[in-house]
Amino acid sequence: MKNVSFISLILGFASLVTACKPGINPQVKTTSAITQKLETRYKMLLDYPVDSMSMPRSMNIKTLEIRKVPSKDWTSGFFAGNLWQLYRLTGDSKYKEQAQKWTPFSKKESVNSNSHDVGFKVFCSFGEALKVENKKEYEAVIIKGAETLCIRFNPKVGSIRSWDFNKEIWDYPVIIDNMMNLELLFEASKLSGNNKYRDVAIQHANTTLKNHFRKDNSCYHVIDYNPTTGEVKKKTTLQGYNDDSVWARGQGWAVYGFTMSYRYTKDPAYLKQAEATAKFFMTNKNLPEDGIPYWDFKDTSIPNAARDVSAAMVMASALYELYGYTKNDTYLAFADKMMASVQTDKYILDTTIKAPFLFDHSTGNWPKHDEIDEPIIYADYYFLEALIKVQRLKGSK
Ligand code: GLY
Repeated sequence: MKNVSFISLILGFASLVTACKPGINPQVKTTSAITQKLETRYKMLLDYPVDSMSMPRSMNIKTLEIRKVPSKDWTSGFFAGNLWQLYRLTGDSKYKEQAQKWTPFSKKESVNSNSHDVGFKVFCSFGEALKVENKKEYEAVIIKGAETLCIRFNPKVGSIRSWDFNKEIWDYPVIIDNMMNLELLFEASKLSGNNKYRDVAIQHANTTLKNHFRKDNSCYHVIDYNPTTGEVKKKTTLQGYNDDSVWARGQGWAVYGFTMSYRYTKDPAYLKQAEATAKFFMTNKNLPEDGIPYWDFKDTSIPNAARDVSAAMVMASALYELYGYTKNDTYLAFADKMMASVQTDKYILDTTIKAPFLFDHSTGNWPKHDEIDEPIIYADYYFLEALIKVQRLKGSK
């Protein structure tokens, strides 16, 4: 694990540098204990047995029971993705071998058109695999997934329908999270030469840009459309505190989604929105000093509300990319701050707990009382992704 130590050393250095800047969290631990802790947690992903029926998604931190899900769950691509990313970070072939075993888990989702989540499921697994191994079979799954996702596109609305449930409440719900699925479409167009996927992605992004944002540049979670006329029926939420609140992970999806869409299109309107929503997040009076947000910026129980590490890690990964396009140091410093904060005893899952997760304190679905303040797999995924991005950035600075 020589490479891990080296990487952690670089990051630890970055964290210490960050810690010295005014306004930046000064409580970064010295690196060696944290490095060891994280390495121990990384290795626990290898200890988790390969299972073709279910994947670890989260853990009840009180009972220590691991929640396992089938491939149809929106999170089913993350475990393979974490293993691929750990291979890229460490160079240790054990992660690659395990990643190869887990990747097929979400393959059948490339033909499942029951929700928009085909992007998360297929791209976080097969997309990561393709970054390591240039295999036609991975490309085929990605292109198939894009074809499947396009089934859910309604040209009258100009959006991909997110969910099919709650039909008695919504006619055509589109959620901000759906921006994340566009990466599958953009990549599939590049791989196949078929511009249909890219065109759908651009129409979806444009409709989201028009309807999902408030004047203050925070975003709604759910927009319900009339599928016949394309008119907006309602601006609402499912996972936020209320319709007018600011669900933290949703802001992360927005900044990430529009930064990523800028990567493929160079449309300045996407960059402008990503920057505006990032500013809203970074300057919010309800954001704790360490940069790890409460699950919703408008939960009235703040400062006693649960945090959401996953929202912070989605945002950190997005901010590193945003920095790459803008060279605005604020984004780099802020992402560094969040990365330094999670790499502390407060957030790293205790090493005595045997489970394939890295961090505690994410919040999945507060209104449903589901996965509150506990380890959730996608927090780890976006942390590892951010780690890869910051190494590239600091390596090229
Ligand atoms: N896409 C579901 C979530 O962010 O919880």
